[in-house]
Amino acid sequence: MLQDSFGRVHDYLRISLTDNCNFRCAYCMPVEEMEWMPQSKLMSKEEILSLAETFVGLGVKKIRLTGGEPLVRKEFPEILERLSTFPVELTLTTNGVLIHKHIEVLKKSGVRSVNVSLDTLNREKFLKLTRRDQLDQVWENILILLQEGFRVKVNAVALHGLIEDEICDFVQQTEKLPLHVRFIEFMPFAGNHWQSNKVVTAAQMLDLVKGKFEVIKLEDKKHDTAKKYQVPGFQGTFAFITTMSEHFCGDCNRLRLTADGKIKNCLFGKEELDLLGALRRGEEVESLIRLSVSRKHAALGGQFSPDYLKANPDAIENRSMIKIGG
Ligand code: GTP
Ligand code: 5AD
Ligand code: SF4
Repeated sequence: MLQDSFGRVHDYLRISLTDNCNFRCAYCMPVEEMEWMPQSKLMSKEEILSLAETFVGLGVKKIRLTGGEPLVRKEFPEILERLSTFPVELTLTTNGVLIHKHIEVLKKSGVRSVNVSLDTLNREKFLKLTRRDQLDQVWENILILLQEGFRVKVNAVALHGLIEDEICDFVQQTEKLPLHVRFIEFMPFAGNHWQSNKVVTAAQMLDLVKGKFEVIKLEDKKHDTAKKYQVPGFQGTFAFITTMSEHFCGDCNRLRLTADGKIKNCLFGKEELDLLGALRRGEEVESLIRLSVSRKHAALGGQFSPDYLKANPDAIENRSMIKIGG
């Protein structure tokens, strides 16, 4: 069992398969100076499976594949199928544009739920944000996933100046579709030009929704990153991921493995331990994982007020989001 010094048990592992992506969202990657990791630094398929097996042996029960964009990794289907032999809930977070090519392997591997990143329902804004004109494909793929019986969560990063006009349109989509839309407060990462005044808080967004819809609060489950709501009678739900305004570190159960094989014990933690290096040297990995868990802080979410940043100017010196995987 991977228990930290605050009693939190870590049974959810996010594995980044690649730092590469077929979109170019500036809130996620420093678009201008982005350098991809060389192949030799990435975990190979066998190395991913070996490290995942060690984590499962230590009590991990849920594995989420992330990126960059996990579906641009050519070996994605094989990796997924092999992971499906482990006793874990398997899932992924994707930008959705390639999902239609992978429906069969998702089903075969027992994936039940897919999280799709989509920040706007407007084609021009989508093009501006992602630098790709592929909103139609992403939306079609969301509909395919729903038809095929997957549970689909849409992740929309709440960008100031964009989300205000869109939030009610997203909520409207949950009337006829069993979609779970989650609005994510904009978070700071290297190169993404984050400023506190660009954050739209959950409270502000909820007010906007309440301006148009009647709203009820739903019960949240332990370890949920999102606070859930519903418009009565609608099929789907909407929710807020409140990292900035009300962090949820108290019951954090998440660990991260980056595409270059480093364990991160927190999304905002700068400390990384090199599991891949140890594996390649034939050294034991388990003790490194335990060390990482034991060093986890009580909370690093939410601590980015202007005053805090003035006092801790290097607080945002993290990887860019694309190199963490969310
Ligand atoms: P579910 O397992 O379906 O609830 O998804 P998830 O929220 O764990 O994962 P997803 O990849 O969909 O992430 C949605 C958003 O939540 C992203 O912006 C993530 O960065 C953020 N998120 C996920 N895990 C954490 C976490 O441990 N801490 C913080 N602060 N944010 C997180
Ligand atoms: N703030 C909040 N969420 C982000 N994501 C990427 N960058 C950010 C950011 N700066 C989201 C993506 C994806 C998830 C893994 O993280 O949209 O859905
Ligand atoms: Fe867990 Fe760190 Fe996220 Fe807090 S900020 S919920 S401790 S990963």
